[in-house]
Amino acid sequence: MYYSLEFVVCLFLMSFHVKAAGIKRVSVDIGKNLTIKCPLNQSKDLMWEIEGKKQRPNTKITVLENGSLFLREVDSSNSGIYSCIRENDVTDVKARINVTVRSPPPPLVVSIKPSTILVLVLWKVNGTGGYPIMHFTAQYRLAFSNNKSWIPITPNHIMPNSRQIEVYNLKPNTTYEFQMWATNQLGKSPIVTVQATTRGQYPESELARHLLKGAEQFDTRWWTVAVGVVLGTSILLGVGTCILLYQECKKRPTEIEPEIIELVPNIILNPGFEGPSHFNDITPDENYPQE
Ligand SMILES: *[C@@H]1O[C@H](CO)[C@@H](O)[C@H](O)[C@H]1NC(C)=O
Ligand SMILES: *[C@@H]1O[C@H](CO)[C@@H](O)[C@H](O)[C@H]1NC(C)=O
Ligand SMILES: *[C@@H]1O[C@H](CO)[C@@H](O)[C@H](O)[C@H]1NC(C)=O
Ligand SMILES: *[C@@H]1O[C@H](CO)[C@@H](O)[C@H](O)[C@H]1NC(C)=O
Ligand SMILES: *[C@@H]1O[C@H](CO)[C@@H](O)[C@H](O)[C@H]1NC(C)=O
Ligand SMILES: *[C@@H]1O[C@H](CO)[C@@H](O)[C@H](O)[C@H]1NC(C)=O
Ligand SMILES: *[C@@H]1O[C@H](CO)[C@@H](O)[C@H](O)[C@H]1NC(C)=O
Repeated sequence: MYYSLEFVVCLFLMSFHVKAAGIKRVSVDIGKNLTIKCPLNQSKDLMWEIEGKKQRPNTKITVLENGSLFLREVDSSNSGIYSCIRENDVTDVKARINVTVRSPPPPLVVSIKPSTILVLVLWKVNGTGGYPIMHFTAQYRLAFSNNKSWIPITPNHIMPNSRQIEVYNLKPNTTYEFQMWATNQLGKSPIVTVQATTRGQYPESELARHLLKGAEQFDTRWWTVAVGVVLGTSILLGVGTCILLYQECKKRPTEIEPEIIELVPNIILNPGFEGPSHFNDITPDENYPQE
């Protein structure tokens, strides 16, 4: 009666496969029963072998009266190469069957790249379990908190071709736990949990102190030098202009002389520089940082 539910291999398909690939492939979903027919002519003298595995007494695997191999409620360990051998020939005849047990996806390989208020969750897949991955799911929570409820990371169903997602609105310098899994048509992969700490950020008071420390270290002599250079350049330009004008005057003394007297004071008294007053405005209050 119950055999009607079983996964029964089609003999015709099997012979095609043997001719094409030399090895028959059979796939079965985890937890189902599987009956493997030997591709050789049916005989009661068949012997079965599982390659690379020691033949332990296994109540889950039995040889049926008609020579087929019966696997009850398969799991991932049942994946492998099965051989049926007909011994009563002059030379042994052997046929191989590649059995794949389909399952939910294996656990993801998850890593976290933290920043101050966001993290980047990255993952890799280590196989799909035999069916394509339908979506990924991720969630997070504070690592050391009494509130153990998980916060879903949107979207709830991450596209199967995605391999990274950003999580926003986190607190700096705080440890979080992240969970992630993949889902195919047979179900969820084992959940992977990863911890990560966001990077520290200077609080506002510390940031202000940090900036002031920079101002304290600023050498006021550089301002004096800068002012000196600019003033000096202006004076030199003024003097140079004077000399040029004076030489012109010598050539035409009567016409230009009144203008020279006006020009020279203008250039020297109006160097076009407001440095000294600006400098006084931003001089830090010497007492403030000691508070
Ligand atoms: C598998 O076979 C066993 C008997 O060997 C039966 O009890 C069970 O219900 C079957 N399971 C399925 C999923 O068909
Ligand atoms: C299977 O048996 C039939 C006769 O019963 C024979 O003609 C055929 O060659 C056999 N095939 C194999 C692969 O042994
Ligand atoms: C062998 O027997 C099982 C059940 O007893 C049946 O499901 C399967 O089809 C049989 N295989 C062959 C090749 O007759
Ligand atoms: C068996 O099948 C799986 C895929 O279903 C494949 O990765 C593996 O290489 C096959 N093994 C052999 C020996 O053909
Ligand atoms: C990927 O899966 C295989 C078994 O299928 C396992 O041996 C291997 O360690 C896994 N790789 C990672 C990075 O988890
Ligand atoms: C726990 O955290 C979740 C998500 O942040 C929030 O919705 C819930 O109200 C919190 N519960 C308590 C008891 O603080
Ligand atoms: C991060 O937090 C720890 C204690 O939770 C503290 O000792 C450390 O100074 C903090 N670092 C920054 C950069 O805020």
